[in-house]
Amino acid sequence: MKDRMLSGIKPTGQLHLGSYIGALRQFVNFQDDFEMVAFIANLHCITVPQDPQTLQKNLRDCVALYLACGLDPKKSIIFLQTDVKEHAQLGYIMCCHTYMGELNRMTQFKDKAAKGEASLSGGLYTYPCLMAADILLYDPKYVPVGDDQDQHVELCRDVAARMNNRYGQELFRLPEAYNPKVGARIMSLQDPLHKMSKSDGINRGCIYLLDPLDEARKKIMTAITDSIGHVHYDPENQPGVSNLMTIMSALSGQSLADIEKDYEGKGYGEFKKGVADVVCDQLNTIQQAYQKVISSDILRDVLEDGARRASAIAGPKLDLVQRAIGMEILDR
Ligand code: TYM
Repeated sequence: MKDRMLSGIKPTGQLHLGSYIGALRQFVNFQDDFEMVAFIANLHCITVPQDPQTLQKNLRDCVALYLACGLDPKKSIIFLQTDVKEHAQLGYIMCCHTYMGELNRMTQFKDKAAKGEASLSGGLYTYPCLMAADILLYDPKYVPVGDDQDQHVELCRDVAARMNNRYGQELFRLPEAYNPKVGARIMSLQDPLHKMSKSDGINRGCIYLLDPLDEARKKIMTAITDSIGHVHYDPENQPGVSNLMTIMSALSGQSLADIEKDYEGKGYGEFKKGVADVVCDQLNTIQQAYQKVISSDILRDVLEDGARRASAIAGPKLDLVQRAIGMEILDR
């Protein structure tokens, strides 16, 4: 039997090159060797305020992009988090087994709180508990994610181990985060010391998978580099160039050393053009597949079938946990 992998994406905005290289592409690459469970984390989306119409569009686009990027619903289990009610219920149980001290240490929440953002929700604070539930319901061996999610997976392991210990049985398998070898953290094109992220759109630091190709090209051609003028992988001193090299390497399969060799003695203009060609080529393939998916009516079937298969795993797991805790009184 194949081992299982599980991951999810929270489309609070459109999917971008970071989520593709750090996560989605891995789901696709591993779906032959693992049983891949890939969901759309719509409960996580509402931890920050959302415009209902935009959220709906982003969710639909996210499913379509899963398929367009090559996830095969015959091999992988693809579903919307809210279609499998066990996520929210185990999420609450996880909250009751997580200490506030642990949640206080989560850097994603700390960063937002440190920025002095007003009205942070309780959902945002307890988010890692729901994420732990998302994972533990399915006993995956690996959780393919970008490295910004490693801390959440670590917390998930801690809470799982605590519950296994407290209730004296192997309720959960302890999962491991799995980061891609190249591209575990794609940086903003305009601020290469910070991660490329959905909220980066305005300043052209973020390439969305559905960006018009000429716009994507422009974003790369205007990416921040440095005055050293040498295509060399050195994230500390040349973060912008190193980030572009990482993107190129992740998408083309070329090693960083080969990229350095190819561009030896050449200027950044030529290098950026090379990166833009690779990126646009990839986006073009994805966008053509996306158009086909979005104009068909397969999304409903994919999501219904995925939810049915996911529920068949999540239901018995929640039942096992509730029994172990002593919450169930009827035989079912
Ligand atoms: P989210 O939606 O922020 O990001 C989705 C995935 O993309 C990765 N990623 C990146 N990787 C490299 N470079 C970047 N710039 C970049 N930006 C995003 C993220 O690491 C992630 O793997 N909490 C999760 C969603 C989630 C989840 C889960 C993931 C909910 N439940 C259970 C795994 C298992 C999140 O907000 O990802």
